[in-house]
Amino acid sequence: MGGCFSKPKPVELKIEVVLPEKERGKEELSASGKGSPRAYQGNGTARHFHTEERLPAPHPYPGAQDCVEAAICHVKDLENGQMREVELGWGKVLLVKDNGEFHALGHKCPHYGAPLVKGVLSRGRVRCPWHGACFNIGTGDLEDFPGLDSLHKFQVKIEKEKVYVRASKQALQLQRRTKVMAKCISPSAGHSSSTNVLIVGAGAAGLVCAETLRQEGFSDRIVLCTLDRHLPYDRPKLSKSLDAQPEQLALRPKEFFRAYGIEVLTEAQVVTVDVRNKKVVFKDGFKLEYSKLLLAPGSSPKMLSCKGKEVENVFTIRTPEDANRVVRLARGRNAVVVGAGFLGMEVAAYLTEKAHSVSVVELEETPFRRFLGERVGRALMKMFENNRVKFYMQTEVSELRAQEGKLKEVVLKSSKVVRADVCVVGIGAVPATGFLRQSSINLDSRGFIPVNKMMQTNVPGVFAAGDAVTFPLAWRNNRKVNIPHWQMAHAQGRVAAQNMLAQEAEISTVPYLWTAMFGRSLRYAGPVPGGCAGPRSQEER
Ligand SMILES: Cc1cc2nc3c(=O)[nH]c(=O)nc-3n(C[C@H](O)[C@H](O)[C@H](O)COP(=O)(O)OP(=O)(O)OC[C@H]3O[C@@H](n4cnc5c(N)ncnc54)[C@H](O)[C@@H]3O)c2cc1C
Ligand code: FES
Repeated sequence: MGGCFSKPKPVELKIEVVLPEKERGKEELSASGKGSPRAYQGNGTARHFHTEERLPAPHPYPGAQDCVEAAICHVKDLENGQMREVELGWGKVLLVKDNGEFHALGHKCPHYGAPLVKGVLSRGRVRCPWHGACFNIGTGDLEDFPGLDSLHKFQVKIEKEKVYVRASKQALQLQRRTKVMAKCISPSAGHSSSTNVLIVGAGAAGLVCAETLRQEGFSDRIVLCTLDRHLPYDRPKLSKSLDAQPEQLALRPKEFFRAYGIEVLTEAQVVTVDVRNKKVVFKDGFKLEYSKLLLAPGSSPKMLSCKGKEVENVFTIRTPEDANRVVRLARGRNAVVVGAGFLGMEVAAYLTEKAHSVSVVELEETPFRRFLGERVGRALMKMFENNRVKFYMQTEVSELRAQEGKLKEVVLKSSKVVRADVCVVGIGAVPATGFLRQSSINLDSRGFIPVNKMMQTNVPGVFAAGDAVTFPLAWRNNRKVNIPHWQMAHAQGRVAAQNMLAQEAEISTVPYLWTAMFGRSLRYAGPVPGGCAGPRSQEER
């Protein structure tokens, strides 16, 4: 067992299904910590944690020489409900006037750096304009996902009708704040065959679960395990930025995991779970006991089952290695993408500037038709055609032909033969839950793990979150649905952690997804069209 990105270009196409105000209030996640933080002990009891167990957070108002203070406007310059970016010399702040009160916060969203001044201010929160993260204007805390960090909150005072802001220079430059967290004080950490919390899966759900536990004061051992050889990374960037290196995609640096005592086992595949003895077995035979278990294994991409499926240079996109290899092979050559869902279309868009030719093969008549309807699907298809992408619609692959073992041609059922040096398959995914088949953890007929609103499985002490689960969605009369979105995995990871600490939290967030192609982005908030009644594939994301 082992970055930083160019920000999305301005939005030109925006589709949002927004809930009525009444519903929204009910559905939004309130992630602020409740009550006093507690540490959870191995015997299942909760105890109050001591402040010295937490790492010190950078102080927003340190000594005078490290601070900058300025009068930035007159109290009447802003109406209630208005936001403005203000320059303080060392960086900008977001000035907000709400109910007659002024608040000064970091001005950039810590997720991908969106200017929050372009977001929406409502009910004491500012919602990010790009992917919908939500920040409390009173505290700067992140209250809805995506993203991991919160905003700095700066001091505001009013004197003689003038608004003054005082801020630390360091905080102005950082523009992000990691919530205060407990550190691990377990003597067994790192060298024992038992852990208090074991998290199978170091994706969005697993990482947020681990961080939430520490934010809530949990100071026992946490072990995260992953099939990957990397620390948790930003998976959605894989198909939008195929060239990105693993270190650019990392969600947290190595030092973060060390500082907070979150152990990550890389290239560590769990092969069986024994819930009676509360133990998992890894592929190399290593056994680890746990007190609480989170299952967050995500999904595995589907592969083609046609003749020639084993030839070289045919890929799914799941890891940075997959993505990097595709760009390398596609440079100046012929690329074929199978599947015109989000993943396939993002890859096709990215490759247009690198490959000699890009072709897309799809069963449906229009890309995204089921998700976005015929009209939007057609408009997007036109945009791709204008960028030299050739579509082969209402057909599928019948054979992958190779020369000296390497892909040369993709043969379609329509008899058309398309030249191809590299092929990317984006035809959906299935839950990666095969290792649970022999356990007594319930799986549904499609292999998803059904959970309740608290992310609990049928087995006490075993939780599940992310792409691998179905959960009751309030606005669908609590019908069990699978929503394989980055933001949803964060929200579920948080709820699972809260319930490991007996906080009785329930999942309550608006599903939100985005995609980016040719420098344009498309955002979708709300229930998945077409019913969202059953488990959805990755392509229905
Ligand atoms: C290329 C791509 C682009 C995407 N783009 C977007 C987007 O733009 N917007 C959006 O909302 N969503 C997007 N998604 C979906 C989003 O990434 C997922 O919804 C999200 O990653 C789910 O998080 P998760 O924690 O459930 O699982 P994952 O992030 O998939 O993580 C699963 C983890 O479990 C580990 N694992 C699996 N099985 C085992 C095992 N047996 N033992 C040990 N570890 C195991 C894996 O190694 C991994 O660490 C995209 C997905 C892909 C693949
Ligand atoms: S940039 Fe704000 S949520 Fe993504």
